[in-house]
Amino acid sequence: MTFDKALAAHYEAWYETPEGRRADELEKAVLDWLLQAYDRPGSVLEVGCGTAHFTRWLGKWGLAAVGLDCSAAMQVQARALDSPPLVRGDAYRLPFADGAFDLAALVTTLEFLERPKEVLAEALRVARHGVVLGVLNRWSLLGLQRRLAGLFRPTVYDAAHFYGVGELKRLLQRVAGEQARIVWRTTLFPRGWPWPQARLPWGGFIGMALMCSSGRE
Ligand SMILES: C[S@@+](CC[C@H](N)C(=O)[O-])C[C@H]1O[C@@H](n2cnc3c(N)ncnc32)[C@H](O)[C@@H]1O
Repeated sequence: MTFDKALAAHYEAWYETPEGRRADELEKAVLDWLLQAYDRPGSVLEVGCGTAHFTRWLGKWGLAAVGLDCSAAMQVQARALDSPPLVRGDAYRLPFADGAFDLAALVTTLEFLERPKEVLAEALRVARHGVVLGVLNRWSLLGLQRRLAGLFRPTVYDAAHFYGVGELKRLLQRVAGEQARIVWRTTLFPRGWPWPQARLPWGGFIGMALMCSSGRE
């Protein structure tokens, strides 16, 4: 299953469901926490922006945000939603000069890319200060549910690779070096969990930021 016309048409609507609203709020809170770890970033490229849901939010956060995606169908949806600048392109060969942005962000996109190391190296090429990642957590109840759902019917996650915190961190270190500064939190714990985000490796969504320079931590 790819991000084709049928999927794209329903993608944004999911964020309006009760489940989608909760995930959206919690994920944005973690991304907000990560962004604050950088020293006054001014611009961001969202790689794999889909309907530009997070690109729009990054713009509201105060960044000059540009979205990039390879799916024409997702971009049609994005353009219908008063989106920031959008570029059709491939995460493996970003059509931007070295250091063209302060940050690059990939939100629930890395999971769908076959050669994540290459994509991260490419993201780091265009981003001066670092990369912000949001991925679905392999070692969470939500991650397990999503993977099990694929046993009974085709889902968009069938081709996805789910990460855990340790694996994601090691991947970033392989690309940026052992000494790279990395911060992370997880969120989307089962309902009733008292904290919206924590440094515990079992939340449904992992937010991780790599700082090349000018980071606060
Ligand atoms: C699950 S969606 C995430 C969309 C958005 N970031 C969000 O969270 O709402 C993954 C997106 O990655 C895009 N994508 C997959 N492979 C890509 C590639 N090689 N280059 C650019 N975009 C890609 C897909 O088209 C899709 O829109």
